[in-house]
Amino acid sequence: MIEIGHLRDPLLSDISRADLPALEAIRVRALGKSGSITALLKTLGGLSPEERQEKAPAIQRLRADVAEAIEARRALLDAAALDARLAAEKFDMTLPVAPAPQGSVHPVSQVLDELAEIFADLGFAVATGPEIEDDWHNFTALNIPETHPARAMHDTFYFPDVDAEGRRMLLRTHTSPVQIRTMTASPPPIRIIAPGRVYRSDSDATHTPMFHQIEGLVIDRGIHLGHLRWTLETFLKAFFEREDIVLRLRPSYFPFTEPSVEVDVGFSIEKGRRVIGGDPEGPNGGWMEVLGSGMVHPKVIAACGLDPAEWQGFAFGTGVDRLAMLKYGMDDLRAFFDGDLRWLRHYGFRALDVPTLSGGVGA
Ligand code: DAH
Repeated sequence: MIEIGHLRDPLLSDISRADLPALEAIRVRALGKSGSITALLKTLGGLSPEERQEKAPAIQRLRADVAEAIEARRALLDAAALDARLAAEKFDMTLPVAPAPQGSVHPVSQVLDELAEIFADLGFAVATGPEIEDDWHNFTALNIPETHPARAMHDTFYFPDVDAEGRRMLLRTHTSPVQIRTMTASPPPIRIIAPGRVYRSDSDATHTPMFHQIEGLVIDRGIHLGHLRWTLETFLKAFFEREDIVLRLRPSYFPFTEPSVEVDVGFSIEKGRRVIGGDPEGPNGGWMEVLGSGMVHPKVIAACGLDPAEWQGFAFGTGVDRLAMLKYGMDDLRAFFDGDLRWLRHYGFRALDVPTLSGGVGA
């Protein structure tokens, strides 16, 4: 009993003044394997049951009190250490990233983001389809039957296989099959764009075997060429970031549209450079074809299980890489896919310059 009284007060007073290392030393000294309180507990083994019953509670209380005091002191010290760190350490979240940002966004990715942003603002959703297609979606449903000369024009990469329904498999030659996939998947009204990779067996300065297209499709009641014209004009003005964009719609032919129109935009010369916009009738001005489009052919609407008497629409398609070249001034398409870092550093975009309509979709 005397020993207990002897131990308690100095221990508790040491604990109340200890720092963290001292606290651990006290714990070992009192409660460790050969600690003083542990030794006291061990003496209980040699006592008679009566004596043990008398002494044990005091020793156990001592052990519990010391353990509790140590934990309380430790919690206090931890909290004080955290407060000190919080007061001392400062982190400026507005500092620029260090080291300097690496890498850049490829112009094709940039233009795809710009297009998605512009069309999202006009209420268009983004739709996708497979790059490995079958010839029904890529040709037949688009009113390009087996014997149609347009099939030959597409320089198609075919697979040796046919699918379960006996359709020939191929790499899609345009994004137009996404029109079919969208119309067969969900009922009108439809307003989608479908950006993506397409493939043709073709290669020179303006053609690569893989390139990018974007398709647009609107299906609703009472849609007419005026809607098409307004949509394309609004899109091209937003994309080239100029109000003085003039459009020329020329009659043309695509199997999946009737009537079909090719869309030209006016260009002019500014500071010795050819730019989209300005007066196409001015000196060295002219017209440049940028889009294929038209009213969706009734046969295409019917092939998707819709009634062409009830549903009409327009569609358009264009090359994304070409749009990038026209806007940002590259002249060789092959460089787009060479992966040359010097080209990317020159033409790439900073990762944080996300195109928005309010901030400008351009660079
Ligand atoms: N699919 C055509 C091509 O690859 C482009 C095109 C023309 C798409 C007219 C359309 C359209 O949606 O209406 O050359």
